[in-house]
Amino acid sequence: MGKTIIVSNRLPVSLRHKNGKFEFKPSAGGLATGLGSIYKEGENIWIGWPGNDVADAEQRAEIIIELHELKMAPVFLTSRDIEQFYEGFSNETLWPAFHYFTQYINYDESHWEAYVRVNEKFCEAILKKADPDDTIWVHDYQLLLLPQMLRDRLPNATIAFFQHIPFPSYEIMRMLPWRKEILSGMCGADLIGFHTYDDMRHFLSAVGRILGLSNESGYIQSENRLINVDSFPMGIDYNKFAKSAKSKKTKDVVKKFKELLGNQKLLLSIDRLDYSKGIPQRIKAFDDFLSKNPEYHEKVSMIMIVVPSRAGVKSYIELKEEIDTLVGRINSDYSTLNWVPIHYFYRSFPFEELSAFYSMSDIALVTPLRDGMNLVCKEFVASKSENNGVLILSEMAGASKELQDAILVNPNNLAGVSDAIKQALTLEKKEQNARIKSMQDTIQRYDVFQWVKVFMDRLDHVKKRQYDLQSK
Ligand code: G6P
Repeated sequence: MGKTIIVSNRLPVSLRHKNGKFEFKPSAGGLATGLGSIYKEGENIWIGWPGNDVADAEQRAEIIIELHELKMAPVFLTSRDIEQFYEGFSNETLWPAFHYFTQYINYDESHWEAYVRVNEKFCEAILKKADPDDTIWVHDYQLLLLPQMLRDRLPNATIAFFQHIPFPSYEIMRMLPWRKEILSGMCGADLIGFHTYDDMRHFLSAVGRILGLSNESGYIQSENRLINVDSFPMGIDYNKFAKSAKSKKTKDVVKKFKELLGNQKLLLSIDRLDYSKGIPQRIKAFDDFLSKNPEYHEKVSMIMIVVPSRAGVKSYIELKEEIDTLVGRINSDYSTLNWVPIHYFYRSFPFEELSAFYSMSDIALVTPLRDGMNLVCKEFVASKSENNGVLILSEMAGASKELQDAILVNPNNLAGVSDAIKQALTLEKKEQNARIKSMQDTIQRYDVFQWVKVFMDRLDHVKKRQYDLQSK
């Protein structure tokens, strides 16, 4: 049996400039944790972009050596790649299209060419490391062409693909001039995974209508290969959050934060800065709640953490301005000398502080307009060690399919979200406990380690089925 190669646009570490030197910051993300059990084993390796532009050849050589120690290999992107492939085709074309923001789609042929070029660059980097019978697991929308590029060069390899963002309906897919190439690129894999059943259905429908390939119960018979498509909802490292919430370290931070905030009910909002997250809509719903419920003034505030992201893309820059204006307006309308409705932070927080925010907040407001899965809501639920707390969750997040005990809302229904805040604030403790407990059971069982296991087991199964068919 060969080794396993994990491939994603970003490596699970990111490169930072510090005092004229480089250093690596490990990613605390769920994917890095979940796949840790794979790439750190034996000869396995993770290939991806270290997240910065490194032009100097000597520095590149040093980085290669350091990453090798960490069981990783870099794919260096030039500043042109970053502009045209990362910011351009990935985040100005695929990201808005796949999240149903058709008004933001940029149809730029040179960005498409860069996308092909960089997917080839990844392919070359993998070929330097791969043996013919290796298993290669490719992740996410930045690398949709890679499975077929790899298949052409390594016909006997086991190739898997997982999409972490939504897959849109055929009606959106057909808008893209490069739809055929994109779908064919994905079909180079033996197993293609999505977070939800709906994403999987959309993909199968697009493959049927655009590539003319039909399927039987998620199995597509292409010209010479059987491809399996299914949903595998991703989980979190449940125990990490549950344990941290109970730790003395977190409890100390909670105590400190509570002293600063006073005795108030807290609503928590945490996202990367992204228009798909529905942040302005959420602020407007909170505004609506405050205007309809004056008795809650000085008694409730929102902790709003917005993590900087994709600052080179125009729609993100505009969104930041919109949020700044909205928060400024609400705070200036309602604040008193000892109360601010929205505590707004435009930065990331260390894990201990995040864990404290999760565990001390009464309500989490997770209301994306569209989200592949959303792990924040799962992290909040896992951190509720005393079983108190209410999750308000958008129906448009993949996680809503599993977390049916949340208060589910349509994020476009401003009055509905405002009512949900009121409902959450008045929900009886017993009811809160029952709902949190039931959601905890689900996410504890299907944690990120289980997700990896189920996916890999299925990949084995698909390969066996292919083998059986061939030997008939
Ligand atoms: C989403 C995507 C990831 C991406 C992450 C951060 O979760 O599914 O592929 O890495 O956002 O975005 P960034 O553009 O900073 O990589």
